[in-house]
Amino acid sequence: MRHLLSAGDLDLTEALLVLDTAEQLDRAIAGRDVKKLPTLRGRTVVNLFYEDSTRTRTSFELAAKRLSADVINFSAKGSSVAKGESLKDTALSLEAMGADAVVARHWASGAPERLTSWVRGSVINAGDGTHEHPTQALLDAFTMRRRLRGGEGDLEGLHVAIVGDVLHSRVARSNTLLLRTLGARVTLVAPPTLLPLGVERMFGDPVDVSYDLDSVLPTADVVMMLRVQSERMAESFFPSAREYSRRYGLDVRRMGLLPDHAIVMHPGPMNRGMEIAADVADHPKRSTIVEQVTNGVSVRMAVLYLLLGGAE
Ligand code: NCD
Repeated sequence: MRHLLSAGDLDLTEALLVLDTAEQLDRAIAGRDVKKLPTLRGRTVVNLFYEDSTRTRTSFELAAKRLSADVINFSAKGSSVAKGESLKDTALSLEAMGADAVVARHWASGAPERLTSWVRGSVINAGDGTHEHPTQALLDAFTMRRRLRGGEGDLEGLHVAIVGDVLHSRVARSNTLLLRTLGARVTLVAPPTLLPLGVERMFGDPVDVSYDLDSVLPTADVVMMLRVQSERMAESFFPSAREYSRRYGLDVRRMGLLPDHAIVMHPGPMNRGMEIAADVADHPKRSTIVEQVTNGVSVRMAVLYLLLGGAE
């Protein structure tokens, strides 16, 4: 594979290869004083970010540096040139500088795919509009596998509830695609206004949908809370923040409905007190939110390694 644009690009074998490679790289790094491998020495990775990001950009930067690649951070914030043109011109410049990989985040769905026709290097989608965020799905799957499957194999039989602003969430889309490939069952839980039209059939095989969080939690192995993406909402999708939390927020009482072994995830950034209560987000046993960030580095190392074909 040359690019990673969608979680749906990965078949079961490829998805497992990424997760297994991430485990191996993680172990290789953990045993070292100097947390660096020489694998991508002399290669150039460009972070091309047209949208704000904390975790994803720094995580890709650290992943590339741990593999000894040269990293360029290009933040296009504030650019007022027409979308298509500026993206193309930027891409051509990156191409001229010899980027081996372009890690792209863009507010427009499909922008990373456009990039593939302008650059020779590998393009990795780091989040495009409301479309996809495949490395987030991979790091989430990695986290579930470590916590609930001893870090091996697929996720056959796991029940994952993805809760909240599904409509605007590239995380929900990529996770649904990848989790199904890995054999998990997904239930999307949201108010009807925050579900895409025809969501039951938008992923090929029908997906389970519920409007009632309390009824889903008792059978969930994983509950993944999504950020309410106010910046993508021009109108109001629910009566009030308080009403939203009351029905779809994960508080301590609701967390008590989960089976003992179940974990709570969130991709960040969180709206504490809105979709997730602080006591839940910081829960020492159930919350994997900090682990997800740590695991993101290993998973992105694996993706860069596999796409750029490391020499060692
Ligand atoms: C997500 C994103 O940007 O898509 N965050 C992330 O990458 N960790 C989710 C979000 O913004 O809500």
